[in-house]
Amino acid sequence: MLRIRPVHLQSCWRSTLARTYSVVSPKYPPTIEILGEYHPTDEVTNITPAIISKIPLRLHKHPAHPLCTLRSLIESHYPDFSSITPPSPLVTPFKNFDELSFPKDHPGRTVTDSYYINKDLMLRTHTSAHEVEVFRDQQTKWLLTADVYRRDEIDGSHYPVFHQMEGARLFDANLSGMKEVEEDSERLEQRLLRSNIIIQDIPHISPTNPVQPEHDPVYAEAMTRNLKLSLNSLILKLFGAQQQQEPLRVRWIEAYFPFTSPSFEVEVFFGGKWLELLGCGVVVQSTLDASGVQNKIGWAFGLGLERIAMVLYSIPDIRLFWSADPRFMSQFKPGEITPFKTYSKYPSCFKDVSFWTAHGTELHENDFCDLVRDVAGDLVEDVKRIDRFVHPKTQRTSLCYRINYRSMDRSLSNEEANVVQQQVISRLQNDFGVEIR
Ligand code: DAH
Repeated sequence: MLRIRPVHLQSCWRSTLARTYSVVSPKYPPTIEILGEYHPTDEVTNITPAIISKIPLRLHKHPAHPLCTLRSLIESHYPDFSSITPPSPLVTPFKNFDELSFPKDHPGRTVTDSYYINKDLMLRTHTSAHEVEVFRDQQTKWLLTADVYRRDEIDGSHYPVFHQMEGARLFDANLSGMKEVEEDSERLEQRLLRSNIIIQDIPHISPTNPVQPEHDPVYAEAMTRNLKLSLNSLILKLFGAQQQQEPLRVRWIEAYFPFTSPSFEVEVFFGGKWLELLGCGVVVQSTLDASGVQNKIGWAFGLGLERIAMVLYSIPDIRLFWSADPRFMSQFKPGEITPFKTYSKYPSCFKDVSFWTAHGTELHENDFCDLVRDVAGDLVEDVKRIDRFVHPKTQRTSLCYRINYRSMDRSLSNEEANVVQQQVISRLQNDFGVEIR
């Protein structure tokens, strides 16, 4: 996501693949240091040095950084919401998943999809992981911004670390709370009616997107209406100014999240395409009960900052957000959204690697990509699997990947790419026992 990537919605085949994770796994020291603290490793440890090095950077706190400007812009839309930036991405799987009603076999929990320090500690995969803690702190209107981590493919719009912003609002689940929500909705609706926006809406509640059994349907309707109005006005604020004469088009889609019902995704038509912006819904009551605020009802949303910043700033490659090149950061001023000027596009260098996986094992694509990231860092632009077959007699799997090496800051020589490729090959042999073809 958020970039909202619906990784949590992916079908369940991945959970079984996790168990076929290679028999030969990388070696870890007994403890790993993260943000000055030592944590024990165990058989599920899969965090890499490349990922650990990103944890202290906190791009969303650098005033001129596009992600920080976008965060401020969203915060300015919600002036009476508190702004939270949790200091550490380390959370328990309980906090990331169980507390939010994720089923035990959810694919997001697997070692192929998420980064684990050990079986009791992981990197949060979404900002929703903080919902209970913030609600428990009696916060009823809040925005929370943080770096989140997911193991994934490599290309120009996916990066294993990205930034999300979570927003939530709670009301008293009684008549005075309903009066407050209706007044707020009226105010928002009046403003939207005067704006150049076309909203493709869907019913607030439907048999496939139901009201929770704990909720009075009238209250749930009122929450959903308020959520939609609030987000439609946020989207108008973010994208409306960039739109010339044309009305801004927003569409609502039914979705499923374990921690909201009804649930939605929202898309905006921008630059000739529908762009998925965020996930949201009415908070499941068990989350509020777990937070000790059982007398409240409310909504929440989560959006990915990179995905939005990439279109608003015309930033073509997600790696640029991490660039230390002064030609990147010097282009931006705090609080201003200005189009990014490409300084140069350096040539690509493609390298293929074909191999047999170790006997009786598969190699998950995310394991492959993480290894390449760990060796090549931001020199890798994208990775594509170009072939896979299973030998009919030996039943061994053969894989071929094409790696595109390209630096964003300088010209990369073929010799340099060869050295990196050789390191990738050695790591594949050592860590996963593959046989190069
Ligand atoms: N956490 C979800 C994700 O990363 C996004 C999300 C969906 C956040 C619905 C929410 C929500 O707060 O209500 O995919």
